[in-house]
Amino acid sequence: MRMVEGRAPIVHTKALTKAYGEHVALNALDLQIEAGATGLLGANGAGKSTFLKTLLGLIQVTSGEGSVLGHDIRTEGPSIRQRIGYMPEYEALDPRMDGIHQVRYAGELLGMNPVVAMQRAHQCLEYVGLGEQRYRQIDGYSTGMRQATKLACAIVHDPEMIIADEPSNGLDAAARDFMLQTLDTTVRNGHRSVLMASHLMDDVEQVCERIVLLHKGRLVAEGRIEDLKAIDREYEVHVWGAAEAMERGLLDRGLRVRRQGRVMRVADDRDDVPREVLEVAATTGSQVRRLHTYEASLEDLFIAIMERLGHDVKSSEDLLAGGAPR
Ligand SMILES: Nc1ncnc2c1ncn2[C@@H]1O[C@H](COP(=O)(O)OP(=O)(O)O)[C@@H](O)[C@H]1O
Ligand SMILES: [Mg+2]
Repeated sequence: MRMVEGRAPIVHTKALTKAYGEHVALNALDLQIEAGATGLLGANGAGKSTFLKTLLGLIQVTSGEGSVLGHDIRTEGPSIRQRIGYMPEYEALDPRMDGIHQVRYAGELLGMNPVVAMQRAHQCLEYVGLGEQRYRQIDGYSTGMRQATKLACAIVHDPEMIIADEPSNGLDAAARDFMLQTLDTTVRNGHRSVLMASHLMDDVEQVCERIVLLHKGRLVAEGRIEDLKAIDREYEVHVWGAAEAMERGLLDRGLRVRRQGRVMRVADDRDDVPREVLEVAATTGSQVRRLHTYEASLEDLFIAIMERLGHDVKSSEDLLAGGAPR
């Protein structure tokens, strides 16, 4: 019998805390992650890589607890790593090996028999688009080829779940698209789970159904992207004439408005906002050309959450360039 997908949590943590000396990198995380594709978001230094390594049992937690696929992260790291494919953030390849031997070696480290590991290495390299280059030495590979090789190493033992730390880092558009598509295929057709850390909203939106957002080691948002967006729904209104007066009229009624020229976005945070918009337009003599619900992007959602936390950010890139806001 096959389990119904996407229901039982595959990761569970309770008050999970990790400190490096005085520095608290993960602060009392209470979290459940369901099967499927989940994006782990946060600025540089938010604690994403640390979190992934604690799940894999690669670093000791300071306090609290957690489990992955039913295994205790404090005591069952080796069992977890048998069932998870890990694509680390930084270089994990031996430049002197060729692709095929690197991937076979990754399989052997996981306890696979060399013959089976070799067969799987061929399959996996084919899967990540490196079938032709598998006998070339890794130090001649492009960044995209190295990332693909890391993914092949991660899936050599056919894991149920893949943990990918910044999988599209440093990739050009074509390599990035291919990487994201491969991860997406792995979830949709392969019925595997993916937990991917990224600071790129578009990447996460392309692959993931859910997000976990960390900020300075704390959990600040979590859930299905669709549901999180609903919290912040807005109407977009295009007007002709007296836009400024209309903005003032809306603000006077206590509506939340962001205006850029003739286009304004009005928060849908009470009953029948469209009616109020039309009423204000009638008093200011503005013509409403268009009025529709605004399709927020994950980027919009991220900015809205950061605003609520009291950070004035204009884009997710702001956070990347400068590290986490104080
Ligand atoms: N081995 C370590 N020793 C000390 N501090 C660390 C170590 N690894 C990470 N940190 C610190 O912990 C915080 C979280 O780091 P990290 O998990 O790498 O964040 P992210 O992956 O979100 O960029 C950062 O402030 C970082 O400097
Ligand atoms: Mg990281």
